[in-house]
Amino acid sequence: MRIVIENVDKTFIDSKKREVTALQNINFSIEKQEFVVLVGPSGCGKSTLLNIVGGLMSPTQGSVYFEGTNGKKPTLGIVFQEIALFPWRTVYENVIYGLEESGASKEVQREKGKHYIDMVGLQGFEGAYPKQLSGGMRQRAGIARALAIEPDLLLMDEPFSALDAQTRTIMQEELLTIWNRTRLSTLYVTHNIQEAVYLADRVIVLSRHPGQIKSIIEIDLPKIGRDQEEYRSQFEQYANEIWQLIRHDAQEASREG
Ligand SMILES: Nc1ncnc2c1ncn2[C@@H]1O[C@H](COP(=O)(O)OP(=O)(O)O)[C@@H](O)[C@H]1O
Ligand SMILES: [Mg+2]
Repeated sequence: MRIVIENVDKTFIDSKKREVTALQNINFSIEKQEFVVLVGPSGCGKSTLLNIVGGLMSPTQGSVYFEGTNGKKPTLGIVFQEIALFPWRTVYENVIYGLEESGASKEVQREKGKHYIDMVGLQGFEGAYPKQLSGGMRQRAGIARALAIEPDLLLMDEPFSALDAQTRTIMQEELLTIWNRTRLSTLYVTHNIQEAVYLADRVIVLSRHPGQIKSIIEIDLPKIGRDQEEYRSQFEQYANEIWQLIRHDAQEASREG
């Protein structure tokens, strides 16, 4: 399945009744099994775009469509920065939530629940409640919940940005391992350039005011192991190329707080 984002614009009306153009003339596609990362400074429209692709918000103009669905409604797995786990459900019950909703049998729920809990490394915590988990473990549970429905498209909005640096690094590595096993088409949002270069097949760089695509950069490094010493200089070149593209906007964003 391929996802096409065509001529998307989004305008908001702010509290002073002024029009704010959050996105302008956005065109790109997410190919089957492709990991696309949207990068740009705070306020450039990343979350707005992810929400539009996920059908949670409608564009002012333009469209998002899925090719090759054979008439089926595409399924989406969504992971936000602050995972909204149901506090009254255990890890297991949270993970199988989408399967329950879609009417999967108890047997399928058990089998997939176990499979994805194991995949994110939460075995032994099936019966725990969200408040008993660390931030990293909650994100793992949220990822397992998104994966359990085996979605056509995985959407992730800064899923690790609330975690401490070490947990974040571990989660990035594990996400790559998981992606390597599932090969889900993914749209991943971050403001972190290193993270973008580490994870992406392609990086889409957004500018701010209005949010437009500045550049689309293909990361031509092996998907697994690109953080190894032998790729360090190429890795840094990509990171620097992206930084040069967003530097001015990032400085402006930080001044606006
Ligand atoms: N619901 C909304 N109403 C008005 N303005 C909004 C709304 N959501 C986002 N915006 C504005 O749209 C722009 C992009 O926001 P957002 O997509 O959250 O950026 P990012 O995720 O890149 O930080 C910002 O200027 C923000 O203030
Ligand atoms: Mg955002």
